[in-house]
Amino acid sequence: MDDRFSDDAVRFDLLRQRAFNLRWATVDPDVIPLTAADPDFPIARCIRDAIQEYTEGGVFSYGPPEGLADFRAACARVQVERRGIVGTTADHILPTDSAASAMFVCARWALQPGDEAIVFDPVDFLFGASVEAAGGTVVRSPVDAATGQMDLDALAAAITPRTKLLTLCNPHNPIGRVWRREELESIADLAVRHDLWVMSDEVWGDVVYPPGALVPIASLGPEIAARTIGVYGFSKTFGLAGLRVGFLAAPTVAVRDALLEESRAPTTAYGVSTLSQVAATAAYEHAWPWFDGFLAHLQRMRDLAVSRLSAIPGVRVRAPEGTYVLFANIEGLGRGTEEDVAQLILEEGRVAVVPGMARWFGPGATGHIRMTFCTSESVLTEALDRIERVLT
Ligand SMILES: Cc1ncc(COP(=O)(O)O)c(C=O)c1O
Repeated sequence: MDDRFSDDAVRFDLLRQRAFNLRWATVDPDVIPLTAADPDFPIARCIRDAIQEYTEGGVFSYGPPEGLADFRAACARVQVERRGIVGTTADHILPTDSAASAMFVCARWALQPGDEAIVFDPVDFLFGASVEAAGGTVVRSPVDAATGQMDLDALAAAITPRTKLLTLCNPHNPIGRVWRREELESIADLAVRHDLWVMSDEVWGDVVYPPGALVPIASLGPEIAARTIGVYGFSKTFGLAGLRVGFLAAPTVAVRDALLEESRAPTTAYGVSTLSQVAATAAYEHAWPWFDGFLAHLQRMRDLAVSRLSAIPGVRVRAPEGTYVLFANIEGLGRGTEEDVAQLILEEGRVAVVPGMARWFGPGATGHIRMTFCTSESVLTEALDRIERVLT
């Protein structure tokens, strides 16, 4: 048992003050929130040390609009060495104040009002929200939650002369798929043939369970790399959600420069806190051993949650290949809609989960609830006991 991810490691006193976005600070004290996917564990010691050392200097001047050189160099190294996206340099990297805002910047840059963007269904709401905020039109392409398969014919049929952007979530939230090379090759082929930009959100890209491995679409070859903008973050891998930091990886310096303009960081109205960049740099440079322990813990929690939930008659769940969310089909329970079931679990079990409503994931999420397992074994076990009691 790794002490860093043990039951005692969880600081409930601080989570109740600091963990928002539907989590500990927002629910009644007797409720276990398995809602937003945000780790319950304190971050790696080396990241805390880097923050302390930086603040000790006492100087907090404006940073460069294009981001700290050390941050961009660390990101480029990770892109090349861990993700196999050859040729990435510090000048292809643009820090953003979260993966979410990276998506909004990318969509604004790629889309003119009236352009269409392909968005999978179901998928995290940020895809549709970023396209719509850019004035684009969302065109959905289905992913089958039961089998985890995307429908490549439907995807091809969804492309029209107005399509400019194809969005991809890899690994996929909420279905947990890590897209295979062959699937990505088919997508890449469509993007090249129809001259589309690809926004590949790989914010979950480190959270992949062995023997699976992330294949970034930009790693497939120069043709698809030239039209792919990668979205990355530090919330899922290192638990830095509150620091709001992420980055865009552009295929060329010219695209990076255009994204920088679009981000409005040069005006100083936007931009990323230097302290957050320092923390993220330390994470990429020093915290991978911490992450390895984290992933091993997550894999145990995944297996625990999948085996307990699938033992409940009427619940169907696939083990996610990546991410720390489960997307459970609850139609067989005969207890009403996903909202009804989430409400029942909350009221009678005192566990909060996310109902698979169109607002969160698109119309294809109906009949599902999503829950995170990124907590300690005792919290997860207690939550699963309660869910089992309510649903059986
Ligand atoms: C697919 C996906 N993209 C982006 C984000 C947002 O990450 P960040 O906290 O860096 O904005 C999330 C968070 O849940 C996510 O699941």
